[in-house]
Amino acid sequence: MTWQATVLTLFPGMFPGPLGTSLAGRGLERGLWSLEARDIRAVATDRHRTVDDTPFGGGAGMVLRPDVVDAACAAAMPEGDARPLVFLTPRGVPLRQKLVRELAAGPGVVLLCGRYEGVDQRVVEARGMIEVSIGDYVLSGGELAAMVLLDSCVRLIPGVMGAAESAEEESFASSDRGSLLEYPHYTRPAEWHGLRVPEVLLSGHHAEVARWRREQSEAVTRERRPDLLTEQGRDASARAPLHPAASPA
Ligand code: ADE
Repeated sequence: MTWQATVLTLFPGMFPGPLGTSLAGRGLERGLWSLEARDIRAVATDRHRTVDDTPFGGGAGMVLRPDVVDAACAAAMPEGDARPLVFLTPRGVPLRQKLVRELAAGPGVVLLCGRYEGVDQRVVEARGMIEVSIGDYVLSGGELAAMVLLDSCVRLIPGVMGAAESAEEESFASSDRGSLLEYPHYTRPAEWHGLRVPEVLLSGHHAEVARWRREQSEAVTRERRPDLLTEQGRDASARAPLHPAASPA
């Protein structure tokens, strides 16, 4: 079964973009996943193919119309399509590895990319969209965020990553101890510009290497991401409400 990604965007030409190269690109070529970028404007019905309008209540920018977005969703998802619908927005819940694992384990995703000021909230709720942010900064649209989400999912699809690129030990990989940042890596030469690789890595003592890496992981996590070490930080993605309740008129 192919993992199916559909992207609803005003800029379909941005895809596959970087997803057509490297690991993701090879997976696409081999049919391990599929990618369809659909132009939201294609479902607009008026002469000017209008997709947006000014915000009620005033303010800057334009808002994507609910009827247009709904029609784009309907056209992209056949009856019974079980894929989650994800709206990329800085208002969303943070994208974390837990959600990435869940999405990668499913049949695929339908991604809605916002532009302008946003999307009418009624269609977001009526379609049960999961609102997701890739970080605390504002992009000019959801397309790059969609690519980030797809890249993170696609590399977990069986067969996409070879044994050489195993994902088990990397940062945010789950374990009984929660998620830690990864330990640092070294390769040949053992001495470079007078800088030696940590001796323990050359020792051949597997248990000592494992202990050293563990300590390094904990130290770097404590320094850079202390939030990951607390119960709260670990559970944040689990507690975040992903499915806002739709509120009919
Ligand atoms: N669209 C604009 N900024 C974004 C962000 N940080 N995450 C997801 N979608 C976005």
